[in-house]
Amino acid sequence: MRVPLVDLAAQEAMVLEEVLGAIAATARAATFVLGQRVQELEGWLAAACGAEHAVGVASGTDALELSLRALEVGAGDAVVTPAFSFVAAAEAIAMTGARPVFCDIDDRTLNASEDTVEEAIARAKRARLRVKAIVPVHLFGLCAPVAAFAAIAKRECLAIIEDAAQSLGARDGQGRAAGSMGDAGCFSFFPTKSLGGWGDGGAVVTSRGDMAGRLRRLRAHGASAPYVHVELGRNSRLDALQAAVLLAKSRHLPAWQGARARLAARYLDELAPFPIVLPRAPVPPAVHAWNAFVVRTPRRDQLAARLRDAGIETRVYYPLPLHKQPCFAALEEPALPVAEEACRTALALPMHAAMSAEQQSHVIASIAHFFG
Ligand SMILES: Cc1ncc(COP(=O)(O)O)c(C=O)c1O
Repeated sequence: MRVPLVDLAAQEAMVLEEVLGAIAATARAATFVLGQRVQELEGWLAAACGAEHAVGVASGTDALELSLRALEVGAGDAVVTPAFSFVAAAEAIAMTGARPVFCDIDDRTLNASEDTVEEAIARAKRARLRVKAIVPVHLFGLCAPVAAFAAIAKRECLAIIEDAAQSLGARDGQGRAAGSMGDAGCFSFFPTKSLGGWGDGGAVVTSRGDMAGRLRRLRAHGASAPYVHVELGRNSRLDALQAAVLLAKSRHLPAWQGARARLAARYLDELAPFPIVLPRAPVPPAVHAWNAFVVRTPRRDQLAARLRDAGIETRVYYPLPLHKQPCFAALEEPALPVAEEACRTALALPMHAAMSAEQQSHVIASIAHFFG
């Protein structure tokens, strides 16, 4: 039996006619960039996150970079972000001219923690860097402890920009939506995300009116009025066609989140007897978005090979910590042992809304067989 990590074809087939209809309606209206569809999507996203504003942009990476720029982060500044994540946040920080300062992660959550952020800030201060912001990542769908970071940010006068690209629908221990807790929250609509477009897209959520206004300007060449450019921005507008796709799919998001949560609950239950480290189940009101289901074992590569032989696709998120990436080698960051260990042991199992019970049974049975 073949079990893909994410089966986009099966997932999109569930909504194909509806999405094609939304695309046709948008094409007939012939507004292709920003416009009413994008405003509707922004309204939906802001409401879903309990925030005042949402600003659609071209990608999650742009959401991060433009948020940093809107907060005046740039050359001479330093920004703390975890070493175990996708590269986008660190890349966005570097692209503003600021310096990423990598923090380690908590072994239980794989997210940055209060202690690891404090350590990174202390290290930055010793190096006489001027820390201006923290960019926590809600990795794999689990909220990082933003409440703890907020206390640090208040003491140190720092901004918080949440990288919520993998966590639409997640909630923290106080029931607050991912993306709504900091100065801004950044989302990606990359096709494999919980809510994915038919191409690239992203958005920033914020309750700060000043930030929303600045972001709307930055995404459209810094213009305050047609052809009046008060600052340099760029072209990072969201396509109306993507907004139409996302709006049509957003109606199915609760059902898909439910399907992911049921798959995760079964994995947690039936993989419990085996010597692998499982992600922790969320305690309500916390909600895990289960964008990925990542287990850890020192025998990761052997397990992945065995599963591949059984027709099961897995993925190593992430094989190299960010401070060891060639593009950041010049920063000469110290060892960050928990992040490095996670890169050696983490393995994502198949997880998507269209996954069948039979497919999951095959994954679980194959893991059981591997551990004898
Ligand atoms: C944690 C994280 N941050 C940011 C991004 C960047 O999003 P995009 O691919 O839309 O630029 C991604 C997407 O893969 C991600 O996983």
